[in-house]
Amino acid sequence: ADALKVGIAGLGTVGASLVKIIQTRANELAVTCGRAIEITAVTARDRNRDRGFDMSGMAWFETPEKLAAEADIDVFVELVGGATGAAADSVKIALERGLHVVTANKALLAASGVELATIAEEKGALLNFEAAVAGGIPVIKALRESLTGNTVSRVYGIMNGTCNYILTKMEKEGLSFAECLKEAQRLGYAEADPAFDIEGNDTAHKLSILTTLAFGTKIAADEIYLEGITNISIDDILAAADLGYRIKLLGVAQRTESGIEQRVHPTMVPHDSVIAQVDGVTNAVAIESDILGELLMVGPGAGGNATASAVLGDIADIAKSQPGAQRVPVLGTPALALAPYQKAR
Ligand code: NAP
Ligand code: HSE
Repeated sequence: ADALKVGIAGLGTVGASLVKIIQTRANELAVTCGRAIEITAVTARDRNRDRGFDMSGMAWFETPEKLAAEADIDVFVELVGGATGAAADSVKIALERGLHVVTANKALLAASGVELATIAEEKGALLNFEAAVAGGIPVIKALRESLTGNTVSRVYGIMNGTCNYILTKMEKEGLSFAECLKEAQRLGYAEADPAFDIEGNDTAHKLSILTTLAFGTKIAADEIYLEGITNISIDDILAAADLGYRIKLLGVAQRTESGIEQRVHPTMVPHDSVIAQVDGVTNAVAIESDILGELLMVGPGAGGNATASAVLGDIADIAKSQPGAQRVPVLGTPALALAPYQKAR
């Protein structure tokens, strides 16, 4: 089958990780997806910055909008960020053109997800956004696919790696809020404007996406009760610990008699609960539903590779769904020899 041609807008923490992974795993990806994945077009603000990978063979476009409108691509990957401006405009242009779109941009989806999904459906394009919620944890797939037929009663969890990293570091290393935030920024976890993380908006964006998938309601991030972690001090954390609790920033959406309730706020969770043990940049999302019961997914919630892993999964899904792609083997690709089994004693 022909190679899947991918254009990437945004070559920062996530975009650069994605390019490096696709370049270094080209052969394995071609086998797994049944066709090669080729990055044929890219854009960012600064054309001259060394991003640690070879850009030869990739056409450079001056803006995300131009790339979306003019590049010879099958998939437009948006890793610029922001609910408006270049990210929003380019995604819309790409979908209007009938291109498949992959994005990690929860702010954009929280603001315009329904409008964008409607264009995608009209144009027969796919809009994939696994990386937009809880980094590398496949929670979108779980809600969209695996839990089909279930009635969800509650979705909740730790959905912001930066906040969980800060709370963990403050408690375990006694560092100040400002020092922990700076480190989270250095590690590539925080948003371009970290106020979105620490004031809870990023968790609200993610929760609004989960709510719409879990309960079929409209996306309403601005209707969520919102409280971030900016007022949490080391004294609060230590006082909670004395009482047998840890403080976590939780997003919660649940069915109530008066409708679907959504809230984001710091929460005292019992020390011996699973969610209390989730440390650092790790996220955890719990989904309670009637057929399956409680599902708890824990994994890396932010950072270049974790996020790029989910973006790549979305791209691979598109590659596999296109006519001409080789069928994916039902039980994996037999490429490695099994080690001989050594019986004990
Ligand atoms: P980032 O490091 O700030 O990278 C943003 C990239 O977009 C940079 O390459 C920047 O160009 C480019 N860019 C920004 N504005 C632009 C414009 N107007 N025109 C062209 N290019 C522009 O951000 P990131 O952390 O990779 O995040 C990207 C997206 O993924 C965001 O939506 C974010 O919310 C989401 N996300 C991030 C993570 C994470 O852990 N970092 C996790 C999940 C989701 P320059 O490099 O030239 O400045
Ligand atoms: N800033 C976000 C976080 C990135 O810290 O969770 C992942 O969405």
